[in-house]
Amino acid sequence: MAKKRQLRLGAMIHGIGGHMGAWRHPDAQPDASVSFAFYTQQAQKAEAGKFDLVFVADGLYINEKSLPHFLNRFEPLTILSALGGVTSKIGLVGTVSTSYSEPFTVARQLASLDQISGGRAGWNVVTSPLEGSAKNYGNKQHPDHELRYRIAEEYLTVAKGLWDSWEDDAFVRDKQSGVFFDPAKMHRLDHQGEFFAVQGPLNIARSRQGQPVIFQAGSSESGKTLAAKSADAAFTGQETLADAQRFYRDVKERAAAYGRSSADILIFPGISPIIGRTAEEAKRKHEELASLVSIEQALHFLGRFFDHHDFSQYPLDEPFPDIGEVGSNSFRSTTDKIKQKAREQKWTLRQTALYTATPESEFIGTPEHVADLIQRWFEEEAADGFILQSNVPRGLDDFVDRVVPILQQRGLFRTEYEADTLRGNLGLPFPVNRYAQPRKPEPQGVNAPL
Ligand SMILES: Cc1cc2nc3c(=O)[nH]c(=O)nc-3n(C[C@H](O)[C@H](O)[C@H](O)COP(=O)(O)O)c2cc1C
Repeated sequence: MAKKRQLRLGAMIHGIGGHMGAWRHPDAQPDASVSFAFYTQQAQKAEAGKFDLVFVADGLYINEKSLPHFLNRFEPLTILSALGGVTSKIGLVGTVSTSYSEPFTVARQLASLDQISGGRAGWNVVTSPLEGSAKNYGNKQHPDHELRYRIAEEYLTVAKGLWDSWEDDAFVRDKQSGVFFDPAKMHRLDHQGEFFAVQGPLNIARSRQGQPVIFQAGSSESGKTLAAKSADAAFTGQETLADAQRFYRDVKERAAAYGRSSADILIFPGISPIIGRTAEEAKRKHEELASLVSIEQALHFLGRFFDHHDFSQYPLDEPFPDIGEVGSNSFRSTTDKIKQKAREQKWTLRQTALYTATPESEFIGTPEHVADLIQRWFEEEAADGFILQSNVPRGLDDFVDRVVPILQQRGLFRTEYEADTLRGNLGLPFPVNRYAQPRKPEPQGVNAPL
């Protein structure tokens, strides 16, 4: 009998929030983006709520128009390594760009996080949408959208290859015989590709979960293909049930075309729930948040998706301007969606900017309302799980205290962790080391007990 699907939950820890004005809320902690105490509290709260993972996003370029959180925040793998020490079960997923880093370094950093946390690491693979990133990395040309995905694909092949450098029982550490490792179980990658030349082996072994879990956060055609081919999970922004169902089906079908089981790739839409004791209270919280952003800030926020395009040059109360291909080399899937929505709703620039800055999601309401929607999206195959982002103070606490118990009562969400690795909790298959299939006879004596 097929195993019952289990809902998965991730909490994005996002300091002062993904909203221009969230830090100004009377109850907000304005230095949360660089507060280890805040990150610890959020990770421990998510773990108390039996969440699968915490998630840390990232970017490589800022300017004076950037979101306040982006101006002064932790590097993901550094903060996640610290969180590994104050949690014990929850997965630790961080964003690292494949366009501005080297696979040997990143494979090593993630393998280290995976070892430090006892097999709880995950990597959100991003291709870096912002052109400005190039200015911080030697001022080379920012690779175009398609090229970034070609690089990402080879990058992932290299990283996964490096992670198999050592078979799981390669380190013998036999003091008596003086055998530290079994040379037959150490493997060089010898990769020579279009973008990378990496010999290996990596100087760190696999963790208890085999390899870090791969998330992919890009939703264009190329993004979906990369996820279907190489990722364990896709993180996506889908606003409606119908859109999310389309995305879900599409990625699962692509995965099947690559010979994978549709259960091998999990789909996580991002949501920003706002919970109130009544629907009116939740609405008030949303309106309060919306009131904290000026139209100038909303234009900056909108502009960032279009590679920091200056929208202040257009009339505010006329239809959203035709800006041609601006943004198509940046957050393409997101800019496509914004343009489509503005067209369909016949929005002015002002309406588009204000909506983008404080989207009015369906997930605003009572705990029962939010639980109902989560159940519906999950059961009607729009999501395998959700990544929650909170832009209001105590947002994660409200969700854990008031929505999680409902999901648990309905048998949708765990009451205890099934495993203590991220892969184990997500129900993902253990990636057997490629060199260990089929397992060679073990050399005599090497693994003999003392
Ligand atoms: C839900 C979601 C989350 C993302 N998170 C990040 C992030 O943390 N850092 C980043 O540099 N890019 C992030 N991206 C950008 C993507 O990795 C990608 O570069 C961008 O969306 C353009 O690719 P696409 O057109 O395939 O979506 C995210 C995209 C989506 C849809």
